[in-house]
Amino acid sequence: MNDMVKTFNGVPVPAGEKIRFADDGAPIVPDRPIVPYIEGDGIGAEITDQMRRIVDAAVKLAPRGDKRQIVWYETYAGDKAIKLFGTPLPDDTKAALDEFGIGIKGPLATPTGGGMRSLNVALRKHGDYYQCVRPVRYYTGVPSPVKRPQDMDVVIFRENGGTDDLYAGIEFEKDSPEVLEIIALLQKMGFTVSEDSGIGIKPISRRACIRIIRSAMEYAIKTGRKVVTLVGKGNIQKFTEGAFVAWGFEYVKEAYADYVITEEDLWSKYGGEIPEGKILVNYRITDAMFAEIIARPSKYSVIVTTNMNGDYLSDACAAVVGGLGIAPGANIGDRGALFEATHGTAPDIAGKGLANPSSILLSAVEMLRYMGWNEAAEMIVAALQNVILDGIVTGDMARLLTNVKGVSTSEFAEAILAELGKPARRPRLTLLGRVVAVIRHLADRLERFDVR
Ligand code: NAI
Repeated sequence: MNDMVKTFNGVPVPAGEKIRFADDGAPIVPDRPIVPYIEGDGIGAEITDQMRRIVDAAVKLAPRGDKRQIVWYETYAGDKAIKLFGTPLPDDTKAALDEFGIGIKGPLATPTGGGMRSLNVALRKHGDYYQCVRPVRYYTGVPSPVKRPQDMDVVIFRENGGTDDLYAGIEFEKDSPEVLEIIALLQKMGFTVSEDSGIGIKPISRRACIRIIRSAMEYAIKTGRKVVTLVGKGNIQKFTEGAFVAWGFEYVKEAYADYVITEEDLWSKYGGEIPEGKILVNYRITDAMFAEIIARPSKYSVIVTTNMNGDYLSDACAAVVGGLGIAPGANIGDRGALFEATHGTAPDIAGKGLANPSSILLSAVEMLRYMGWNEAAEMIVAALQNVILDGIVTGDMARLLTNVKGVSTSEFAEAILAELGKPARRPRLTLLGRVVAVIRHLADRLERFDVR
């Protein structure tokens, strides 16, 4: 502890150790890592508190639980930071995240159409968390708008570095001197631009594209996923989205030559079956992808895309499996990571004890996996699944189900705590249900890799 700064935002650093990083960016996690957390605005405090209780209990029950413990360290952003320090994002908060290399946060409010820029974007940009990783899978019993939500099991890699796409924040207001200058320049270049326009600029850099595509490929190799899909609107935005796809294919064919097969190879050389040890890298135009991911989700596994596409696509996929209340988020860089609930501050239910803590809890699961504490992570996943199967859900889900009564945030958390350490249960199927499941399984196998 001697080499450590002793306070951030005036709060003493608790006794614990820092996560360090190997040369390849892999975290080296001590038994008592210090983990900064930001409660967040609105429902943030309610869900963050319950998440910490459940994570602590799971870590204790998991192997080495007598030695391991997360040393939580509160750091501040949003309304709480404004109240305490007069600013929504104190420098010490960024410094604490840098110092400890990891963090988890609740949602933060961002005004629309003016006022301050998003704190979430500022935090992601500061930490150079260029990978926004969104795993989307179905938990049996969660209400879904589609017939077979269980077919969705994808991990979305969204470029998140803050320097690229419309998220770079390069925007000029109608009638501003800058916008008039840009319009004049564009007109000089021969473009027709209406003079009453506001203008946003979309830079897409090769560096940002390659590093997110590399992250997606490494993830697919590590986890045994067999399809990586590049998504972009390359037919219209040729030098930005189109370039993402072109650079991506050029890069993966060279850097992952032993693994990569294209859709053309799949049919001309492999008869439609992805061979063992190979990864199919394909391309989908953004609008087609939205249709595909809803109509044929089982064809997709790892999706990698630019920032704005990724933003839309993540929420659409989350909706298929039951909404943002349950979708986790991870922002990962080469020297650190920030995990976060994917929904907003839910001002309409804040302070009422009604919020669903699943999103931040599953974000904590991603954090535990990132730390290599997989047993605690899987324990939480199993407990959450069991509780939902038992029909114990918060109001947002209960509203969409029959014969289920919504419970409060804390009751839901208590139910999860009671299930920790128990094996995951499977839904009970009737005889007819089992026959249908077998037929579906066989049908799935037959058309599994028919990606044409
Ligand atoms: P929202 O996600 O806060 O709410 C949309 C609807 O979903 C509301 O009806 C809300 O009650 C419900 N909801 C959201 N999370 C829930 C949960 N965990 N449990 C139960 N119900 C839940 O989206 P909205 O209203 O557009 O945004 C509110 C504020 O949150 C804005 O200031 C926005 O900028 C911010 N926001 C922050 C995000 C972040 O910090 N990552 C992400 C999205 C929005």
